[in-house]
Order: sequence, then structure tokens, then C-alpha cells
Amino acid sequence: MRLGTCIALELAVAVGAVGGLVIGVSRVSTVAGTYVAEREAAAATAPVVTPIRAPSTLPEATLAVAIPTPKPTNVFGASDRELLAPIVGEVVRVKPNRGGTSLSLRIDFASGARASFKPEQTHPQSDPRREIAAYRIDRMLEIGHVPPSKSMAFTVDALVAATDPRLRAYVAGRLEDEGAARQGILHGEVSWWIPEIKDARIGAFSLDEPDGMRLWESYLQPLAKPPAELADYLAQVATVVVFDVLIDNADRWSGSNTKVSPDRRVLYFMDNSLAFSPFTVGHEMNLRPMRAMGVFPKQLVARLRALDYDALVAALAGPDEGELGPLLTPIEIRAILARRDHVLAHVDELIATYGEAAVLALP
Ligand SMILES: Nc1ncnc2c1ncn2[C@@H]1O[C@H](COP(=O)(O)OP(=O)(O)O)[C@@H](O)[C@H]1O
Ligand SMILES: [Mg+2]
Repeated sequence: MRLGTCIALELAVAVGAVGGLVIGVSRVSTVAGTYVAEREAAAATAPVVTPIRAPSTLPEATLAVAIPTPKPTNVFGASDRELLAPIVGEVVRVKPNRGGTSLSLRIDFASGARASFKPEQTHPQSDPRREIAAYRIDRMLEIGHVPPSKSMAFTVDALVAATDPRLRAYVAGRLEDEGAARQGILHGEVSWWIPEIKDARIGAFSLDEPDGMRLWESYLQPLAKPPAELADYLAQVATVVVFDVLIDNADRWSGSNTKVSPDRRVLYFMDNSLAFSPFTVGHEMNLRPMRAMGVFPKQLVARLRALDYDALVAALAGPDEGELGPLLTPIEIRAILARRDHVLAHVDELIATYGEAAVLALP
């Protein structure tokens, strides 16, 4: 089950011998999904007194509390906190990622967790702080399609030692040549590893090839009648187009960066490390599809209208940027707002022609 609908708290109240005072409280919660980490973390701050008698000898009370289902914050089936928490500790296996143009590794941890790691590196297209910034802005806008990400650092030695022997010399060479290690330590970002991805398609085409782009652009028009079964998918495509203009991700449509779930229903907004330029208009690669679109996601447009500098600063400020912070410079943040203004100018022009209902036709 993905999300908890109910939390059952069993409060075992231990009553001590001295003066009848409550001397120990233990809490057992049975919850599914998102709720676990958040409630458990909050509970951890409550004072706990260790019982001095075995609870089995003491009276017990049970309290059941109905909690409304929390709104999911991502499309990955568990809360960001739960997905990121086990990405920690000992590295047991490292493999270079394929299909990209930058230095990126797949890392398995002793905890059983798996992550993609992009270190600081010589490739200008891959700056790890941008991947975290994209994740935070995605969540602030309640999109939820960027894999959760945080900063992390590893010694080069630990990464090389955990690489399969036949790839060890290759990986060691790449870390040496392309990684920007500081005193033997590579700082970077880890993204939760999506267990299975496929290349995104539409009709007979790849989502990112010219024919595929023409097809979905033709569907994303005020008077178009796309196949009903594509409605949700098309809304996700429209969302990534707007998101990419906002963050100025110059790499989405260059190949290998439009990925979907195995059932092809969920588009993952992966590989955002070539984003956040200081350009106030942005790259044509993003602007062209945005200008070609005639319908837009209504809720996202409302959130863009409300966006301001302080909201961005707050979204980007996190506890765990490590050596990567600050994630974005003031110039990069102001550029986001300038690009936002361009998106809204385009949307408002369309609304003046076709009316709001026709243009903000996506949820
Ligand atoms: N979080 C992830 N979950 C699953 N696969 C990933 C993840 N990150 C990267 N990959 C895999 O590694 C490949 C390269 O990663 P990508 O982020 O696109 O790097 P590059 O900047 O080199 O293009 C991706 O195409 C994908 O197959
Ligand atoms: Mg890529």
C-alpha cells in the first residue's frame, strides 16, 4: 500500500511503583507509506522515559486515531524522506552509468539502497548542485516528478574499491580525469535510483524526436482532441516543458533524457544537471516547444503566478547541501523569475485570444 490512511497508536503506559507516576511510555505505530518517516521523526523529538519495570506486568491502553491520507508529494511511491534516508553509509558496489555524457555512477549501499551519484566534475553540463535545485523547485511547485536528491561525498578510494574488478581501472581513470575531487573526496549529489525506466514514446515515435515532438505539440492545442487515454501523459509532457523553461534545462530534448515508468504512464523528469543558466529568456530548445503549446496546466500556472524570490530562496535552502551550497546564485534565481515572466506572457497572450478555459485546459 502506498499511502497510510490510518495510524494506530498503541500506547503502553507503564505505571511505576513509586507514587503511582507514569514513568515510561512506549509507542508502536502501524502505518503505511509516507506517514511513517514524518511521524516517526516528529515522535523522536518527544521526551521518552525508559521504563524501569517490564511492560508485560503493567496495564495497557490502546488508542486508534484516524489521520487523513496525506497528499503524495512525488510519483515514486514513497515519501522523499523515506527514499533518501537509506542512501547513507557504506558503499558496497559502484557501476558507471551508461547513456549519458557526464561522469555519473550507480551506487549500492550496505543498507540495500541504490542511488545515482553525480560528482563535481570537469563536464560543464553536469553540475550536481543543479540536480538538487531542480528537485527542490519541482517539489515547491507540487510537480513531484524529479527523483529526490541530496548532497553526498565519497572518497575516491571507496568508490574505486567498490567497483567490479573488471571496471575498476576504467572507473578509477574517469574519476581521476573527469572528477573534481578535493583532497581525495568527491562531493556531489545522489538521486534516488528509479528501479526501472524506459525511453519515453508517443505513438510510433520517441517523445524527444522531431516527429514525436510534432505529434504531442499538435495534441497540446486549444481545439485539439487528443486520444482520451493520452490526456494524463500529455499533461505531464506540458508540465515538463514549462518546468524546463523555468529551470532552463538545455538537455531534455537532446536524447536519452525523457524516461518513463515501465507502464509508460509516468514521465520522469530526470537529468537536470544542465539547468539554471543566468539567461533571462533561456535556451531555444526549451522555448520552442513552450511557444508551440496552446494549452497549459492550470494549477502549475497558478503556482508560477505566485512565485517570488523569497519563495525560491526558501525552497532552495535545505539542511543538507554539504559542500555544494548555496545551490543557486542570486543571478540564477532572478533568471528563473524572468523566464517565469516569459511563460506567463505567452500564456496570457493565448488566454486573450482563446479564453482561459480553453488555454488552462490541463489540470
Ligand atoms: N535516479 C536514477 N534512476 C535510474 N536511472 C538513472 C538515474 N539517474 C541516472 N540514471 C541512468 O543513468 C543514465 C545517465 O544519467 P543522466 O542523469 O542522464 O546523466 P548524463 O548527465 O550523463 O546524461 C540515465 O539515462 C539513466 O539510464
Ligand atoms: Mg542524460
